[in-house]
Amino acid sequence: MAHTKPFDDIILELRNITQRFGGVVALDNVSFNLQRGEIHSIVGENGAGKSTLIKILSGVHTQYEGEMHFHGSPVRFHSPADAKAKGIGTIYQELSIVPSLSVAENLFLGRQPVNKLGIVNWRQMYREAQTYLAELGVQLDVKRPMGSYALGEQQMVEVARVLFSGADVIILDEPTSALSPPEAERLFEFMMRLRAQYKTMIFITHFLEDVMRVSDRITVLKNGQHVTTVPKSEASKSFLIQQMIGGEAETLMASYTIQSDAHAADSHGEIVFETNRLSKSRQFSGVNLSVRAGEVLGVYGFMGAGKTALANCLFGYEQPDAGEIKLQGKPVRIKSSTVARKMGIAYVPNDRKLSIFPGKEVYKNITITYLDRILGQILSKSKEVQVAEEKIKQVGVYPPDPMIDIAHLSGGNQQKAILAKWLVKTPQVLILNEPTRGMDVGAKDDVLQLVRQFKQQGMAIVLISSEPEIVLGNSDRIVVMSKGQVTQTVGNVDLTKEQLMQWA
Ligand SMILES: Nc1ncnc2c1ncn2[C@@H]1O[C@H](COP(=O)(O)OP(=O)(O)OP(=O)(O)O)[C@@H](O)[C@H]1O
Ligand SMILES: [Mg+2]
Repeated sequence: MAHTKPFDDIILELRNITQRFGGVVALDNVSFNLQRGEIHSIVGENGAGKSTLIKILSGVHTQYEGEMHFHGSPVRFHSPADAKAKGIGTIYQELSIVPSLSVAENLFLGRQPVNKLGIVNWRQMYREAQTYLAELGVQLDVKRPMGSYALGEQQMVEVARVLFSGADVIILDEPTSALSPPEAERLFEFMMRLRAQYKTMIFITHFLEDVMRVSDRITVLKNGQHVTTVPKSEASKSFLIQQMIGGEAETLMASYTIQSDAHAADSHGEIVFETNRLSKSRQFSGVNLSVRAGEVLGVYGFMGAGKTALANCLFGYEQPDAGEIKLQGKPVRIKSSTVARKMGIAYVPNDRKLSIFPGKEVYKNITITYLDRILGQILSKSKEVQVAEEKIKQVGVYPPDPMIDIAHLSGGNQQKAILAKWLVKTPQVLILNEPTRGMDVGAKDDVLQLVRQFKQQGMAIVLISSEPEIVLGNSDRIVVMSKGQVTQTVGNVDLTKEQLMQWA
């Protein structure tokens, strides 16, 4: 349709949509439209309703009130396949890759190239998969199982799958949360190319700089309600924060700027946890680090730097090939995560799916560690719920209901619940891998507040992040990793983001 002008042509429209989940009103009379050829960002705090909105557009939620229009006519999608068939491709917040299948199979999930006899053309599939990934600047062995790659790489494959699916409308729900800055950069460049071809995109992220960079229009949601939709030219970061959170804007603006109270304290205890020339082939080598009681050691590096493999070895998920780990000065072998836990080491992985028990209530997810502490005692459910309720209040999980399925919480609120359990049973060493991934400004601040609290309780904390602001604002010392090696270990004094990124 070369004669239709981009931008004044509305492709998809929501009119007065309300979506309820039991007592929760996730969307409250929201109207929204998408113009052909635009990148339309949606911002809002955790739980604002962003994912719910795009799940309606993608045919996931079908029981809503209100109307959807597609190219001017009323439409109701019955399933995700229905939306996909109409050219709407969605990258969901929680990845939907199949770990046991190859990278190529994941890329072509449900639409493998077949020959006349209906047989999958593997050579063609591998070749195209390679080409697609190369266009995004990703080098993976497309025959290897998806599960053998790091989260960021999996995210890149998921992105590629939708970007190359031929969809006209592409919805990206937090596509960059596990990506390194250069990777996010490549994704943005690709989005710009798609935009030049009049493809239409919805982009959801908590990184407002990125919103300001790539958007044509921006919609703000708050508590399930539509606050405003503005052209980018009329927005700024502080305007968006103001709209997102209303009155509390000033305090929360502060959480966006680097805070440096963390490294003021020098009153740390003895070294609790250390590694000596720790190595794991093809992942990292010669890693020396140490962390004291009451200290936060930041570990910064891009994706692929080896941070997660290192964390996995520190928690017994993987075994190092060489070097040693010492706990309270004594060499230890952490044969499994069970052994790690017994030693008082706790780990919050970067993939949230690994740390929640979906299908179980929030309270169960919080008290699970508490349960093995008091095993042998008779425990009443009401006692369990009471303990959980206290922690839910303390960390600000929303909605503050211990009885709902944790899978029904928004991403940010799940993370708070995961951290809350370490307030119930305090470990000696706490390893946090990207603890603020996918969180809004307010929730990030809540989590970092919790980290400070853990620190005050005397835990030795390893804070792994690929966001420079997070390590700069919250660590006493920082280890920078690049390509599997430690390139710097420095006290966190007068460091800048640029410096950190240069060492990475
Ligand atoms: N399937 C569901 N069942 C029950 N409640 C749900 C369900 N999905 C979402 N909710 C609730 O709806 C509200 C909006 O959630 P949604 O996931 O849309 O938020 P979001 O803006 O995407 O947040 P985040 O930035 O944390 O991803 C939240 O209160 C959430 O708990
Ligand atoms: Mg969401």
